[in-house]
Amino acid sequence: MPKNTYQNFWGGWRQRLRALRNLPPVLRIVWASGPRVIVAGLALRLVAALIPLAMLSVSRTIIDTVVATTTRRQTLSSSLWWLVALEFAFAAAGAVLARAIGFCDSLFADQFTRHVSVRVMEHASKLDLAVYEDPSFYDKLERARVQATDRIAMIQAAGTMLQQAVTVVTLSAGIFFFAPWLLLVITLCLTPAFLGESHFAFLGYSLNFRQTPMRRQLDYLRVLGASKESAKELKLFSLHTLLVDRYSQLSNEIYDQNVSLARRRLRAGVFLSLLSSSGYYGGYAYVIYRTITGSLSIGTMTFLAGAIAAASTNIQSIFATFSSIADQSLFLTDLLDFFAVRPKIRSLPDALPAPRPIRSGYEFRRVCFSYPGNSRMVLDHFSFRLEPDERVALIGENGQGKTTLVKLITRLYDPIDGQIFLDGIDLREYDVDDLHRQIAVIFQDYMRYEMTAADNIAVGQIELRNEFDKLRQAACRSLADAVIARLPDRYQQMLGRRFDRGVDLSGGEWQKIALARAYLRDAQLLILDEPTASLDARSEHEVFQRFTELTEGKMALLISHRFSTVRMADRIVVLEHGRIAEEGSHSHLISLGGLYSEMYELQAASYR
Ligand SMILES: Nc1ncnc2c1ncn2[C@@H]1O[C@H](COP(=O)(O)OP(=O)(O)OP(=O)(O)O)[C@@H](O)[C@H]1O
Ligand SMILES: [Mg+2]
Repeated sequence: MPKNTYQNFWGGWRQRLRALRNLPPVLRIVWASGPRVIVAGLALRLVAALIPLAMLSVSRTIIDTVVATTTRRQTLSSSLWWLVALEFAFAAAGAVLARAIGFCDSLFADQFTRHVSVRVMEHASKLDLAVYEDPSFYDKLERARVQATDRIAMIQAAGTMLQQAVTVVTLSAGIFFFAPWLLLVITLCLTPAFLGESHFAFLGYSLNFRQTPMRRQLDYLRVLGASKESAKELKLFSLHTLLVDRYSQLSNEIYDQNVSLARRRLRAGVFLSLLSSSGYYGGYAYVIYRTITGSLSIGTMTFLAGAIAAASTNIQSIFATFSSIADQSLFLTDLLDFFAVRPKIRSLPDALPAPRPIRSGYEFRRVCFSYPGNSRMVLDHFSFRLEPDERVALIGENGQGKTTLVKLITRLYDPIDGQIFLDGIDLREYDVDDLHRQIAVIFQDYMRYEMTAADNIAVGQIELRNEFDKLRQAACRSLADAVIARLPDRYQQMLGRRFDRGVDLSGGEWQKIALARAYLRDAQLLILDEPTASLDARSEHEVFQRFTELTEGKMALLISHRFSTVRMADRIVVLEHGRIAEEGSHSHLISLGGLYSEMYELQAASYR
């Protein structure tokens, strides 16, 4: 063997064995998904495993009895018909057991899918925002999702393998009883087939693994090529050919790789199955020889021929199943890896409850922050205070870190240096969930939930889902009430076009609905990140009129590019290069004649 192949070979085996080490935790997940069906399925399989040997033994006796009756003219033994009835009973039991096993398997499949999907969702909800922005995590999550449904067949195969193993052991005992050498020859001939099968299964896995990024691209292209969001631009920019070309190019590449592996597998497979067939037929010839020479009865010959045939099909299928399980359990590694990702941002064991009321506000003290995998400092020794009963407007050009600041206040991320305090205590000391309860934030890229209008507001404080008066009050404050009044089903109107009878809204209408979420929440800090970007001039004016009234004496942080909005804040903070460039009231900043007044003049000039 050349050195490289040799290393691949052993490296492959090591990795496969390592993957099998995942089996215990996987079995725990499997077991937790439905212990009762699992026990039932296994018990039925154990009984079913004994049937082949039982049937062969009975038929051996039947044949020997018949031969004795016909050739030696003995009288017909009365027990013969009873034996036939017994064999029939075994056959019938086998059929019934197979059905019952199928029934258990289908129950198990449903329970397992449900259990794993729920666990994946629960776990995903606990993870840090940062992991979602990591592409390799996305691969992992994607693969973990697929495992929920794709691995069922593998688990059922493991059950079948167990059954076949028991069958093989019992049949082998039978063969060994009549012809010990035969057993050895057959085993030797089948071993190369097993090694070959699992080797290729492993190659298939690693190919699949390497293709994951390409498959992600394919998925993206496919979604892009047929989605509501992209349809407008695709048509107008005639991007379809570009997408189709890319798609075919990528899928051809994947196809070529798969074909080349399949070819190699085919060549090796042909050779190996010839080898195992010769083992089987060699054994068969040996049995015939011994029967002719008189050392075995005809009944024993049929028994051995049947047992060898059954054992070798079972062994082959065990080998194939085993290698596919080893291969598939590598996929389960992804599921376990996914479960092993732990959130970094979480409450300490004896975390403090968030202060009620907040007395001295938030303070950023020389905070530095950059996103994972990107060395650029978004916030660079940034110091900032947000007092209770103060409304601060945050402005700055695109990419200066305004949204990032919100992510830090809400502890979606932690600073890499410096500290953030709330009432003089580091944010990390507080209970994360309780901190979140104090904040109502509407992000720039807020979600448009394809649910009813009422639910779209209720997500702001999901406990109030059934308190219609409160939902309506919040909707009135954000001007969403008027939008909803025009919908056919009012608050029960399904929004978005994904589901039946759904109605889509305009950008500004969606924004009013999203704003209502913030008003629904009884929070101490209100954060609006570009809340009015899509609103028309009149709506914007009204929204801010109300916002000013409603946040009177409250802590609020407002991010906007519109100076008309910004002016109503108590204090304006201008962000540049990760620091505060200027701050103060509108008139103060104008009188400074710096960045603010420059940006203001630019915007004002365009209206003149
Ligand atoms: N998830 C992310 N991963 C990596 N870098 C990011 C991420 N989000 C933002 N950035 C980078 O951080 C910088 C600040 O982004 P941020 O979203 O805070 O800007 P912003 O001030 O809110 O801009 P805008 O006015 O466009 O909303 C940008 O340069 C951006 O490229
Ligand atoms: Mg932003």
